[in-house]
Amino acid sequence: MQTRKATAIAHPNIALIKYWGNRNDALRLPANSSLSMNLAALATTTTVEFRSDLDADSVMIDDAEATASARERVIAHLDRVRVLASIQKKAKVISRNNFPAGTGLASSASAFAALTVAACAAAGLQLSTDELSRLARRASGSACRSVPGGYVLWDACDNDDCSFGRTIAPADHWDLRDVIAIVESAHKATGSTEGHAIAGTSPFQVARVASTPERLERCRAAILAHDFLALADVIEQDALAMHAVMMTSVPSLLYWRPATLAVMQAVHAWRADGLAVAFTIDAGPNVHCICPAESSTQVEHLVRAIPGVERALTSGVGPGSRLIP
Ligand code: DP6
Repeated sequence: MQTRKATAIAHPNIALIKYWGNRNDALRLPANSSLSMNLAALATTTTVEFRSDLDADSVMIDDAEATASARERVIAHLDRVRVLASIQKKAKVISRNNFPAGTGLASSASAFAALTVAACAAAGLQLSTDELSRLARRASGSACRSVPGGYVLWDACDNDDCSFGRTIAPADHWDLRDVIAIVESAHKATGSTEGHAIAGTSPFQVARVASTPERLERCRAAILAHDFLALADVIEQDALAMHAVMMTSVPSLLYWRPATLAVMQAVHAWRADGLAVAFTIDAGPNVHCICPAESSTQVEHLVRAIPGVERALTSGVGPGSRLIP
């Protein structure tokens, strides 16, 4: 029996400029460019083994059989890898997250970045980081930003060939932290994939997409210049623009809870008092408080004291996806 096995580790990323809506859902070509940082403290480790003795793919996530929908999405991605490698063998996939259970932080970005890197290696493919990122994008858009390391820009471009994440600054360029205020640990009702599909029903999506290049440029410049106050303004504007689209989509996606708003308002008050911190929020109620390393202990302490915050988790900027022995 011939077996080929590989294990990869990948980190989720937090978008500072958001990806919301696709110009092509099937290829996951985004409506706009986005920019993120990888989160070192959170990781997904995935082992893929192609075996000639299997008659079906098997997928275990965090020591349990994957749900039907997760399994289907993993198999669709294994199929992309099998086509590229011209192999037919079925695979055994074992994936584990180090995110504490019940934090509502399950991430398709780290999951599909790790799956892409492990499956390609196990299939005997030797792809560049750009090619791996491009392939990961097909499974989950944000996964393409978890393949390269540090601060990553995913350029919206018209076709499959040029749509992938590229590092604009390595992880050690700027020691920013993400203090994640967890206000709800339940799984979100509407996932990102369904959300992207209805983004265009909001009258604000056209305006958001048209104004993103300017925000992206400001964000990139702020990162390269280590200018926290400029970064704070632009990431909050961008997150609010995305949530304005979400709220006004049909059906409406209202992810915020009272504690979400409490953290957002506290962040503004702290910043007015001179503390370097800004918020961003993904497709869920948890608030990501971005701050320089020097402020992170105080931010974590303050965040934990807000009623409705169940727990807080802090991460620095992380490397890209890689194979591990
Ligand atoms: C709000 O990458 O999770 O986190 O491509 O359907 O897997 P799929 O969507 P996903 O969308 C991420 C949306 C976001 C913003 C972002 O990360 O840019």
